[in-house]
Amino acid sequence: MQKKWWQKEVIYQIYPKSFYDSNNDGIGDIKGITEKLDYLQSLGITMIWICPIYKSPMADNGYDISDYYQLNPEFGEMKDLDELIEKAKEKGIKTVLDLVINHTSDEHPWFQDLLQNPDSKYKDYYILKPGKNGQPPNNWRSVFGGSVWEPLPNTDQYYFHSFAVKQPDLNWENKQVRDELYKMVIYWLEKGLAGFRVDAITFIKKDQAYEDLPPDGVDGLGKCTIKARNQVGIADFLHELQEEVFSKYDCVTIGEAPGVPYEQYGDFIGENGYFSMIFDFRYADLDVASGSEWFKRVDWNVLDLKNLIFTSQMEIQKAGWGANFLENHDQNRSISKYIKEEENRNFYSATMLGAMFFFLRGTPFIYQGQEIGMTNFTRKSIEEFDDISSIDQYYRSMNEGFTAEEALHFINLRSRDNSRTPFHWNENEYGGFSKAKPWLGMNENYNSINVEQQEKDPDSILNFYRKMIQTRQSGEASECLIYGDIEPILTEHPVIMAYKRKWNGKKVVCYFNFSAENQHVEIDQNHYTVLLNNYKEEIPSNQEMVLKPYQALILLQKEERHHG
Ligand code: GLC
Ligand code: CA
Repeated sequence: MQKKWWQKEVIYQIYPKSFYDSNNDGIGDIKGITEKLDYLQSLGITMIWICPIYKSPMADNGYDISDYYQLNPEFGEMKDLDELIEKAKEKGIKTVLDLVINHTSDEHPWFQDLLQNPDSKYKDYYILKPGKNGQPPNNWRSVFGGSVWEPLPNTDQYYFHSFAVKQPDLNWENKQVRDELYKMVIYWLEKGLAGFRVDAITFIKKDQAYEDLPPDGVDGLGKCTIKARNQVGIADFLHELQEEVFSKYDCVTIGEAPGVPYEQYGDFIGENGYFSMIFDFRYADLDVASGSEWFKRVDWNVLDLKNLIFTSQMEIQKAGWGANFLENHDQNRSISKYIKEEENRNFYSATMLGAMFFFLRGTPFIYQGQEIGMTNFTRKSIEEFDDISSIDQYYRSMNEGFTAEEALHFINLRSRDNSRTPFHWNENEYGGFSKAKPWLGMNENYNSINVEQQEKDPDSILNFYRKMIQTRQSGEASECLIYGDIEPILTEHPVIMAYKRKWNGKKVVCYFNFSAENQHVEIDQNHYTVLLNNYKEEIPSNQEMVLKPYQALILLQKEERHHG
């Protein structure tokens, strides 16, 4: 394997609306990120990924862009962004932005022109089809619910949207569209970005037959992902994007590429792959039948989680490089998801989960708030939700026969609003995020979970994250933890997850106890030194080792001595 600079990064994901509000209007902003650069630097992270800050009516919180070349005024001005990129660079932090090129907002001038002008040249920039007997062209269901087709006013035509009604899909079959997008990507790369996280990129190719699907719900629709995600022919588009744009820069590209079978990972992340790395969502979605059907709950155990993570790791190792994460702005909080009993959600389980994902092979992504153990926030009524996806899932659950109470329960577990609540800086009003009422209700536990308290406590989750990052980035086993191969061990164990990392004769062994009970493992202490441990007690040096509840233990094998 040839080393790449982006393999060494530790990426911190920022949801700008909820990170820090510098001007007290209740909405986080770019200056707010700049003000918190010292905090980010003190964490040890090397790169930030900022979710969309472009001009947008915010129907999907910025994933609906109405101008690719301007910023949304509530986030700030271009000079604020230039300043952020510059100041971050001075602190050794690179900047990555979100690239949303599967769709625009319906308020984008291209779409507005086609609405207003019967001869618009932008008609071929989007996907338009005539209806069938007053009905939409087919029965595909969009990711955020309802038909993928929306009538174009005063015509017999419909336009296509994979996501919300206000997010019309661009027509990637049109080379002019692709060229416009490439030009825009180059504009941003020239600004000094380190690269992009590339949104929903497997949706750019649709099955051109646009035939009906067998219905899979009471609405008579079938999920569009079957025919509108990772379809045959996508290779040409992704290859072109890589050839004409990405390959010309030494940039990092992180693909949000759901729906790619492992057999195709080589094309996506191999030596000449379309992206530097992609996210694999299979383990993050282990509690639901599909990421867009939250009412289809799936019961799971630690062995299931282990199998999903290890399969993913081994497939990625075969193909290239992965992007590892526990949380993001589309997921619920990890401690609430992976630690089932509330009484077990504590320092130990939070740090155990943190270390388990962090030392996997790949580039680790930490989502804002994860480093202090922020939790899900249970809401009491549908009115408290902002996320369009949660609102759709609520009504869909009821259409599928669940009660309002059950529907609320499903979305509380899964809502994207769980991770989007404002960041907890301290225990002041609104968690020190803003002096004004925030755009989205705070999680009420900011009194007990916040940065200020954890800064003071050497044994906090925050300080454990710092140690963890240091161990990977600059400790004695750094190379091994970054570049080393991964090998799962104790694969049959029901509650211990364990793996080895191996690099040029160095070996690191990692143990994670996913239970609230002591667990015995066979290991000869004399052969190892401790790199990281979320318990303070010394480990007795004997053959059999006891892992305490939710213990995480990272051990470095001592170099073998050869006596002559
Ligand atoms: C991606 C984003 C998500 C957004 C969707 C549509 O999945 O992560 O937040 O809603 O794309 O752009
Ligand atoms: Ca603000």
